Amino acid sequence: MKIMVVGGGGREHAIIKKLKENKSVEEIFALPGNGGMAEDATLIDIGAQDIDKIVSFAVENKIDYAVVAPDDPLVLGAVDALEEKGIPCFGPKKNAAVIEGSKVFSKNLMKKYGIPTAEYEVFDNIDAALAYLETAKIPTVIKADGLALGKGVIIANTREEAKDAVRSIMQDKMFGESGDHIVIEEFLTGPEVSVLSFMDGETVVPMISSMDHKRALDGDEGLNTGGMGTVAPNPYYTKEIADRCMKEIFLPTVNAMNAEGRTFKGCLYFGLMITNDGPKVIEYNCRFGDPETQVVLPLLESDLLTVMQATTNGCLKDTEVKFSEKCACCVIMASEGYPLSYEKGFEITVPDELKDSVYIAGAKLSDGKLLTNGGRVLGAVAVADSLRDAVDKAYEKAEKILFENAYYRHDIGKRALEVL
Ligand code: AMP
Ligand code: GLY
Repeated sequence: MKIMVVGGGGREHAIIKKLKENKSVEEIFALPGNGGMAEDATLIDIGAQDIDKIVSFAVENKIDYAVVAPDDPLVLGAVDALEEKGIPCFGPKKNAAVIEGSKVFSKNLMKKYGIPTAEYEVFDNIDAALAYLETAKIPTVIKADGLALGKGVIIANTREEAKDAVRSIMQDKMFGESGDHIVIEEFLTGPEVSVLSFMDGETVVPMISSMDHKRALDGDEGLNTGGMGTVAPNPYYTKEIADRCMKEIFLPTVNAMNAEGRTFKGCLYFGLMITNDGPKVIEYNCRFGDPETQVVLPLLESDLLTVMQATTNGCLKDTEVKFSEKCACCVIMASEGYPLSYEKGFEITVPDELKDSVYIAGAKLSDGKLLTNGGRVLGAVAVADSLRDAVDKAYEKAEKILFENAYYRHDIGKRALEVL
């Protein structure tokens, strides 16, 4: 089989490595991929948002199955465009990807179907938003409606900060058109859990839970990033919480999307907060998380391609999706200065024996050398019988991977270990 994976980060590298385990996979094309995955996939210089070129490539190369991994092409309708040409795909259609593409949509969906989430108000008028903030409970959370490279959420600790955030989003358009509508919502507290799930429009199969570490610095300080590391499973996600999530959140979400005529197929990511009132949805993503995927897929014992095809064909109910009892940790190695400005172009050295457990996110090949080419450069991943060992081993690996200006957090997994 010829497979095409749209996207180019560490998540896509993890997906590609897992797909390769299936013997029927002859070749994987990555669009655009990155230089760090050249040994695992054929790199094609087509951007993940260039839907027309993606479709032409798939047709010309007789692609048997396509995996659309990032949010933008999904929200832009890549799956619809590929399926129109008869290419089977993993991922939701445009009318279902809106669950991530519009926060106003997802909040209204949850309200309409009684799915637990933070209380909120929607505004499309700046004066009304500012007036509301005069009496709103502080801290409060301001969210731009559309995709904003994961940065469209501002937690305001004072009334002035909240008003400034509203002005920046609605008046100065710091996130472009994403800020034409905003959500102002209740600030929730509690541990966060990421649960990715396979969904075929009827059956939902949660994958092993994980914990992201979004802040740039140790101790959860510093700026929000795309994610500085992950562990799986997440110890806050007990059996009792998992059962409640299935009943109160996962199944109601599948049913709500069907009732709206927006059947979701692919990976639905539930960003949850375990509050004193029970689990609540912080956000939905219409795709695999990054770097959650880098700890979840190494623990998947079933064949990924078979499971993905089952979501496409609607036969997930009859397909085994089995996870190992082990634990995993991913330490993201970034360029010093990320998520703001940073230098790139430094040579990366990954010892041969680590290549199987390193997922490259931001790198390019130049004269046969692998050079840093992004903020998040790679993830060092370890799987072990205990979380303690997985964390220690991931850090041992990170220490052996070298590039100038490498930066990583030193406390990935610390909070998880404290509750065990
Ligand atoms: P998001 O970009 O939607 O993943 O949000 C980024 C982060 O902001 C989340 O991981 C949470 O830590 C935090 N956050 C978002 N919404 C809320 C909320 N209502 N209450 C508290 N924290 C929140
Ligand atoms: N790690 C968070 C995300 O993928 O959105």
